[in-house]
Amino acid sequence: MKLSILGGGGFRTPYVYQALLRDQGSPRIDEVTLHDLDEQRLHTMVAILTELAAGYPDPPLVKPTTSLPAAVEGSDFVFAALRVGGLEGRRCDEHVALDLNVLGQETTGPGGLAYAIRTVPVMVEAARVIRELAPDAYVLNFTNPAGIITEAMQAVLGDRVLGICDTPSGLGRRVAELLGLDQSRVRLDYLGLNHLGWMRGIHHDGRDVLPGLLADDAALGALEEGEIFGLDWIRALGSIPNEYLYYYYFNRDAVRRIVESGQTRGDFLARTQDEFYRAAHRQGAGVADRWRDTVARRSASYMAEARGDAAGTGHVGRPEADPADQGYAGVALGVMTAISRNERQTMILNVRNNGTIAGLPDDAVVEVPTMVDANGVHPLAIGRPDLHQLGLMAQVKNVERATIAAALSGSRSAAVTAFALHPLVDSVTVARSLVAGYVARIPQVAAVLTGR
Ligand code: G6P
Ligand code: MN
Repeated sequence: MKLSILGGGGFRTPYVYQALLRDQGSPRIDEVTLHDLDEQRLHTMVAILTELAAGYPDPPLVKPTTSLPAAVEGSDFVFAALRVGGLEGRRCDEHVALDLNVLGQETTGPGGLAYAIRTVPVMVEAARVIRELAPDAYVLNFTNPAGIITEAMQAVLGDRVLGICDTPSGLGRRVAELLGLDQSRVRLDYLGLNHLGWMRGIHHDGRDVLPGLLADDAALGALEEGEIFGLDWIRALGSIPNEYLYYYYFNRDAVRRIVESGQTRGDFLARTQDEFYRAAHRQGAGVADRWRDTVARRSASYMAEARGDAAGTGHVGRPEADPADQGYAGVALGVMTAISRNERQTMILNVRNNGTIAGLPDDAVVEVPTMVDANGVHPLAIGRPDLHQLGLMAQVKNVERATIAAALSGSRSAAVTAFALHPLVDSVTVARSLVAGYVARIPQVAAVLTGR
């Protein structure tokens, strides 16, 4: 089978390739096309993957290309993990908002909307190319903000595109490890939008172990969520929030900590990754090891920035997952094998709502437990959200849709509306300043919002 990776020169591609190398089932991926606009990065990536493949008898063939149609044509699966505007764009997403004293973060709050505005048109165009040249392919979208991008692409590709995030399954895995549960016997009751969800139950052999966990100081405190949200707040909610909800529940604290730390996560990553790519092409052999060293410097703690620790060091509570096995590459491989080998699996994915979450539109993309097999994706029935959950999801979903509309129409005033209705933007005046700032600082945002 053929897999194409859009944004194939990116830092997480080696994890995906490692997952493919380890997979010895059948049918398997035997050809990987890497698409990227940056030839130098492609060159570096091929060198890394070639080193990773050493010792494997039949590694998947790697083909780099800067042509999107060539990459996509005839693919069985397409992964999309690209960053329009690069890490420099991410830095601006963060800093423009922080300068206005609101949250500056990659996906949550205004930064995520600026990221979406320049990314939606690119991904919708990619969806059209896929519909044309690989009509039967499944698209596994990692491109953030994953919920928004997946919803925009679904308008072209329908249910053949689904969004992937590692945080819900990561939470499930860490809870299972902590409590010594057999993961295959655990059913997670999770619901939300991407980066905005709640674990409301953890059923093990039919028994919900969440109430016991919530009552247990030591166990709950050992969980990263216990550390960042505090035990009292988790108990007050009665569910474990996705780590990204820190930015909502502790908004002022998050903004203050990021500002006080003196660097954003984007600042840190831009420095370390750009250093790596700049040096990579002249250093020769050993590039896979240097990639490994660079990723090791970025810890698995996504909450690093909220802790005022953009480098993600100094973190204690979170057991490090092997990203090729259990991180997002692992989830992606799980989806591919479930579809191509008809090995039924249940995973928390971003899919079309279709009545799963009562109160949200049918065509909204939501993040829920989903059964995947050769017939596609089937979200599982779940209980109703409570009023707080429904209210927050509805408010943010409306903003997501307004953002897609602004990105597709190019209307600056539509963009202001989207920003102004975001719960983390506290004034229409601030929304106007945000849009002005993003247009001034990010050329790809300016190109979309032509002022019509
Ligand atoms: C998690 C999230 C991703 C996000 C990433 C940021 O994996 O699920 O959606 O992009 O964290 O990590 P980074 O190392 O780029 O800050
Ligand atoms: Mn994610």
